[in-house]
Amino acid sequence: MAEIVIVPNKTAAGELVADEIAKLIARRPDAVLGLATGSTPLPVYEALRPRLEGVDLSQVRGFALDEYVGIDPAHPESYRSVITREVVDPLGLDPARIRVPDGSLEGIEHHGEDYEAAIAEAGGVDLQILGIGTDGHIGFNEPGSSFASRTRVKTLTQQTREDNARFFDSIDDVPMHCITQGLGTILEARHLVLLAFGEGKAEAVAGAVEGPVTASLPGSAIQLHPHVTVVVDEAAASRLAHADYYRYTYANKPAWQGL
Ligand code: F6R
Repeated sequence: MAEIVIVPNKTAAGELVADEIAKLIARRPDAVLGLATGSTPLPVYEALRPRLEGVDLSQVRGFALDEYVGIDPAHPESYRSVITREVVDPLGLDPARIRVPDGSLEGIEHHGEDYEAAIAEAGGVDLQILGIGTDGHIGFNEPGSSFASRTRVKTLTQQTREDNARFFDSIDDVPMHCITQGLGTILEARHLVLLAFGEGKAEAVAGAVEGPVTASLPGSAIQLHPHVTVVVDEAAASRLAHADYYRYTYANKPAWQGL
């Protein structure tokens, strides 16, 4: 099963995951990072800055999980812009080595397979950062997504559009469609690190970690992966039936065992 780490707050979560990413890059200077957008991974990117100062990042590669379809890439809330603003610029990564799915309408039917080919050519993702939607999505794989799915266009649920309306002037400005890595794509990353904060994520986290493996809760796909770390604050952990066991396990974790 996944390792569940319950931390006091977002800052602690960011530091824990950033330590792991810094170790990965030290071990593998051409590491392939799977990047999430939204608000959840921001403490990780923040905590990475001091850890990566002075480190040669010229070989690091990255693949974002998803992008809105039809959004102007220059729009401040396109995931291309978010990745540039929150990850590429502050960390000093090479923009040419960081990919975001192409959400432009022209040729959209081929963008998924192009993205899959680029991930394969990079040798696959070493560490995939994931958030989770209140409806249980990972990437933008909304409920009902196939566990075998690859990068493709999906329709966002109304719930997700409402959740993401906070980034736009109004819900009407939130795109209807997205292009997202599939669950099958995500499951091929070598290490999945799912973060969640706040009461609003508690049900989705409990379903993903302890519920049945079901396409109705796409985050439950993580139960099929051999190396998963779930980092949650107390509020996001509040619906976990075995929270005490997770705390006990982590407190007694052997020193030789990384995340
Ligand atoms: C973002 C992504 C989504 C978000 C999820 C949670 O690239 O793929 O799955 O991780 O919608 O969003 P936040 O973090 O804003 O609560």
